[in-house]
Amino acid sequence: MTDIQWYPGHMTKAKRMMQEDIKLIDIVVELVDARTPLSSKNPDIDQLAQNKYRLIILNKNDLADPSVTSKWEAYYKEKGFFVACMDARKNTGMKAITDMIQEACKEKIERDRKRGIINRPIRAMIVGIPNVGKSTFINSYAKKACTKVGNKPGVTKGKQWIRIGKNVELLDTPGILWPKFEDQNVGLRLAYIGSINDNIIIKSEMAISFIEFLKNNYCNALKDRYNIECDKECHEILADIAIVRKCLLKGNEPDLDKAANLLFDDYRSGKLGRISLETP
Ligand code: G4P
Repeated sequence: MTDIQWYPGHMTKAKRMMQEDIKLIDIVVELVDARTPLSSKNPDIDQLAQNKYRLIILNKNDLADPSVTSKWEAYYKEKGFFVACMDARKNTGMKAITDMIQEACKEKIERDRKRGIINRPIRAMIVGIPNVGKSTFINSYAKKACTKVGNKPGVTKGKQWIRIGKNVELLDTPGILWPKFEDQNVGLRLAYIGSINDNIIIKSEMAISFIEFLKNNYCNALKDRYNIECDKECHEILADIAIVRKCLLKGNEPDLDKAANLLFDDYRSGKLGRISLETP
């Protein structure tokens, strides 16, 4: 298998910016992909967000296996996080997010109250690796009661805050973290969900390892979508997908790269069913 590497040129700058932004906020709202909640979580955030309240959102819940997602929910709760699951494209469940933010920050609210500071909104910031749905979430969350707060005296110039109701202010630009991994399996999971540039990987090889995973964990997905039995070898299954879906080269040879693209398009859009890639 080709080694997956990832060298983001502007990573240092983004991280430095996030260090500055984090000083301004009370709570870090971290989005991860519900299909792979550990691999899509950058471990640096635990250092960056020290002494901040934390909420984890398992986003793209609609694409993940519900029985596995509930295990992840318990896993992060056990670690002391507040946890929510959602499909950020819908703007249902947003009130629950505000309630959770309030609940997570209740110590601070109480501390403020004792000092005579009442109704100071909680400041929150969204963070996560690319493609987990940060912008989508900000749009949905802000849609209902959105007022741009704009620059404020004493606040770093140029920061835009979005007021959510009367209790929360959200920094309008999310903090982007880069996926971080030494383990190639983590890289593969991120490639499957489309969170790292997969042009650097040979698609058919990536598809074969994904088919291996499906064979072992979600055998029915291949049967249901392509009517292919999973007792064959992985490369045969990929060739069968090519044939069934008419991905053919000259001379009717199966076009494996095209079939691989189709398989990942199906996975990423949920057409293969709700499939989680890792369990706690
Ligand atoms: P980012 O800011 O973290 O980089 O992610 P962004 O919001 O741009 O979302 C990345 C893609 O994921 C978008 O799809 C978005 O619609 C989709 N998405 C976000 N949240 C969810 C979710 O909860 N469930 C599902 N199924 N998809 C979600 P796209 O194809 O890149 O764009 P578009 O065609 O949807 O506009």
